[in-house]
Amino acid sequence: MNNKYDIAVIGSGPGGYVAAIRCAQLGYRTAIIEKYSVLGGTCTNVGCIPSKALLDSSEHYFQAKYKFDIHGIELSDLRLNFDQLINRKDEVVDQNNKGLSYLMNKNKIDVMTGLATFLNNKTVSVTSSSSEIVEITADKFIIATGSKPTSIPGVKIDKKRIITSTEALSLPEKPKSIVIIGGGVIGVEMASIFNRIDVNVTILEFANNLIPAMDSDLGKTLKKIMAKEGVKIKLNQKVHSAENTGDHVIVTYKDEKGLIQRLQTEYVLVATGRKPYTKGLGLENTTVQTNTSGQIITNQHLQTADPSIYSIGDVVTGPMLAHKAEEEGVFVAEVINGQKPHINYNLIPSVVYTWPEIASVGKTEQELIKNNIEYKKSKVPIGALGRARAANEKDGFVKVLSDPKYGELLGVHLISPRAADLISTVVVGMEYEVRDEDMTNISYPHPSYAEAMKEAFLAVSRKGTISL
Ligand code: FAD
Ligand code: NAI
Repeated sequence: MNNKYDIAVIGSGPGGYVAAIRCAQLGYRTAIIEKYSVLGGTCTNVGCIPSKALLDSSEHYFQAKYKFDIHGIELSDLRLNFDQLINRKDEVVDQNNKGLSYLMNKNKIDVMTGLATFLNNKTVSVTSSSSEIVEITADKFIIATGSKPTSIPGVKIDKKRIITSTEALSLPEKPKSIVIIGGGVIGVEMASIFNRIDVNVTILEFANNLIPAMDSDLGKTLKKIMAKEGVKIKLNQKVHSAENTGDHVIVTYKDEKGLIQRLQTEYVLVATGRKPYTKGLGLENTTVQTNTSGQIITNQHLQTADPSIYSIGDVVTGPMLAHKAEEEGVFVAEVINGQKPHINYNLIPSVVYTWPEIASVGKTEQELIKNNIEYKKSKVPIGALGRARAANEKDGFVKVLSDPKYGELLGVHLISPRAADLISTVVVGMEYEVRDEDMTNISYPHPSYAEAMKEAFLAVSRKGTISL
């Protein structure tokens, strides 16, 4: 086998596989190296895809148990088959793994399994337990090695009872209780899954709001909805320790009044953020630099301090999101190809797959206040819509922040059924710098949740709402 490539990509997550495909499309002889036996990285195997499979399954169960009766659907003997829930999730992941192998094959990308370690800036060794060490050389490398969960002092992840999202997505049996440390994106998504299937769920969050990095109205509304559905949410909590005693865990924390509290639970899920992953990569054999957070430092072309090595995705700065990694995958291939691609980092949407879903793009109201940026705002409730009444899904709102003088859209934040799909229209509008009023001059289907956006744009542009 000829082990000399134009471009070698290290890591097969959404950053790496998209980069490899774009490189191959542009005519480069491309290899992708993945240390695990399956392609897809965190997102496909232990992130986006399995979590959404379980979110969908658990929401069906929750609907059947608590929400069908109002529609006149009566069920008796409703049971949850936890093994089938997990099996279906595994099948969904497997289909995605196979899809990626097909795409690598179709694009004539050589796939190598093993840990890639730089020997110098043109050569990596690929080490796997099942085959001998292979060396490959390439003119350019793209590092897309992603991220791993982090913990907090006093809490040691043992992967048995003190676990991360990775273990939580594949528990051998339905737990009775789980304490989730961190009410960020992973915390609230995992809490939703477990709470819906009747697990006793407690979230201990350090900040004074859930999903604290997002617009604060979103976290406040989400807290009300999740609390109503049975999740115990404790804000302003400082966790000191978690001790695995064999069949349960004791969590010790200081509550909002400064009092030390103890909780006994079957599992503790640590969801306090993720850190960039470069272990075993041999960066010391290159001139690639990392910052104090461990992220690989790149310039605006995603090129590292070593001109033949680029880096993308969770291992570099920016939001740890699959679609951000994908955009960078395309970007970097086109940069190497001499093109002038574009990523607007201000317009990468964030989505949280609770029910209702949460979606956000642009600045939060708190960021505008902090930076002394003038704004006007509107906030319309989802419950006012005919569509929401028809579906009996009345929780949520759309909030629009725009410039008082020119009507430039500064930020849009929604909590609504289908928010993940609705936000894309706003991203288009903001990318092409339309004004809030322009967003009212297009037709929105009736009845639909999108009509709440139209009402919010009407309200913020002072044209007067139609149905509120
Ligand atoms: P990764 O997907 O982490 O892939 C990196 C790959 O590199 C891994 O397969 C790893 O094995 C491999 N690797 C590392 N080092 C080496 C080496 N030396 N040699 C060979 N291979 C190596 N994002 C969203 O946008 N939407 C979501 O709904 C969403 N849900 C998530 C849910 C959970 C529970 C988690 C944990 C994350 C979620 N994310 C979501 C985040 C998303 O998974 C990441 O942003 C995304 O996977 C980052 O892609 P990446 O290509 O940078 O890295
Ligand atoms: P996160 O940064 O979203 O949330 C971490 C939370 O933990 C924060 O709310 C923080 O205040 C809290 N925290 C930190 N230290 C704490 C302590 N000592 N005690 C209590 N709480 C503490 O990180 P998370 O949820 O782990 O997710 C990691 C990454 O994965 C995120 O960057 C996210 O973008 C990505 N992801 C994206 C998803 C999506 O797009 N839907 C879904 C899941 C993950």
